[in-house]
Amino acid sequence: MKKVNLPIKWRLTIWYGAVLSLILVGFASGIFIYFKNSLQESIDTKIRSIGEVLSSSMTDSHNTSVFGNFERYLENVLGKKPKGKFIQIMDSSGRIGAKMSDIEGEALPTSFSTLEKAMRGEVVYETTDRTKPRLRMITIPIIENKKVTSVVQVGTSLEEFDETIKKLLLIMIISIPSSICVTIVVGYFMAKKALRPVDQIRRAAVKISSSNLDERIDVSGRRDELGRLAETFNAMIDRLKDTFQRINQFSIDVSHELKTPLTILKGETEVALRKEREKQDYQVLLKSNLEEIDRMSCIIDDLLLLSKADTRKIKLDVEEVSLRDLILDVCMDMKVVADKKNVELEANELEDIRLKGDELKLRRMLLNIVENAIKYSHAGGRVRVSSHANNGYAIIYVKDNGIGISEMDIKYIFDRFYRADRSRKRASGSGLGLSISRWIAEAHQGGIEVESQPAQGSMFTIKLPI
Ligand SMILES: Nc1ncnc2c1ncn2[C@@H]1O[C@H](COP(=O)(O)OP(=O)(O)OP(=O)(O)O)[C@@H](O)[C@H]1O
Ligand SMILES: [Mg+2]
Repeated sequence: MKKVNLPIKWRLTIWYGAVLSLILVGFASGIFIYFKNSLQESIDTKIRSIGEVLSSSMTDSHNTSVFGNFERYLENVLGKKPKGKFIQIMDSSGRIGAKMSDIEGEALPTSFSTLEKAMRGEVVYETTDRTKPRLRMITIPIIENKKVTSVVQVGTSLEEFDETIKKLLLIMIISIPSSICVTIVVGYFMAKKALRPVDQIRRAAVKISSSNLDERIDVSGRRDELGRLAETFNAMIDRLKDTFQRINQFSIDVSHELKTPLTILKGETEVALRKEREKQDYQVLLKSNLEEIDRMSCIIDDLLLLSKADTRKIKLDVEEVSLRDLILDVCMDMKVVADKKNVELEANELEDIRLKGDELKLRRMLLNIVENAIKYSHAGGRVRVSSHANNGYAIIYVKDNGIGISEMDIKYIFDRFYRADRSRKRASGSGLGLSISRWIAEAHQGGIEVESQPAQGSMFTIKLPI
């Protein structure tokens, strides 16, 4: 069977209407039954009390002369003339002795079985539908010397009762369906209003594409579940927009970074080809070209590494590493660069820490950061590397007193291709060093942080779990 997918607002409304109808019908039936029963009870009590007064007055007085003027007698006994009632007294053979009727109609239609029961001393209630209006009647035997001598019958018209019940039914028949209709309509609109953000989210999602990420859902101060859903959705689009922008910027940067060496290659080659040249000239040219090719190849390697890192396709070659040896080694390698720039590079206060990690990658990370410290120092500057263990982590500090990083740049220096000073000469690097370093630290469950003051120097703190 095919599953019917009704919209939520309809499903809510149907459930709501069905439950409400059930409750209303149940409640109304309860009230109706209770009301009808108590009305009937009060009628029965009334005719019984008249019947009992009559029967006791008759046994008291042994009075058969009452039959002469029955109405007066009744007035005496009951205190007033009974209204809307039918009263008659019969002897044991069923003959009517006295009768009074305030109801249009003939003698009370007493059935044979009622008389029989009364003769046995039973009080009998009955409702007759044969007359118009309907009657409720009580038959009370009058017992003298343990013998039923006569029978009192009191009947009352059920006209008023029927009328009241009819009115009550009418009220219920009109009011229940109309209140159900009203609540269904109101419920439908309420459900529709409550679910409006869902539809907005759907429409916004349809409109969103990589080129259109400006669509937002109007939350307008809603603090409920749907308001929060819409907010979450908006936040997701913000993040998507940010990511798309960064991807876009990244592509621009990659093209730009690769285009410069290519332009140089092309230019130099074209110039060289313009005329016949000496052998040494060609060697110089090829050497220069090789530098550019190396540079491109470096960038491409770095990019490859980073994109593999993004898709988690790189496995670390984990082994035991002595951090002190590694730092000393890196500093030894960088000494040449430092000397060339007349920067003092020293590694002291190195605690002997052993940790599990990928030595090649850790070396690359340290090289990047120490290289930066030297690169962004002035001649005569000083770079210090130290390390110690703290709380299960190896902490490595690389401190320089170089140019420092401005507050505006510091947020972005770990981004790909970001260089604080874009106008700096190309040889300064492509801006991928710190992205790779941060990735290496994070791949080892660690991290890198930086503190810096422009013109004062910077301190990079690397944290690696031991
Ligand atoms: N110690 C430092 N002092 C001042 N600025 C720094 C320091 N380290 C990094 N930076 C800033 O952060 C930027 C990004 O550094 P990153 O190492 O990623 O790139 P790069 O050194 O420019 O190029 P690459 O490392 O790819 O050769 C640098 O361009 C520089 O502006
Ligand atoms: Mg660098």
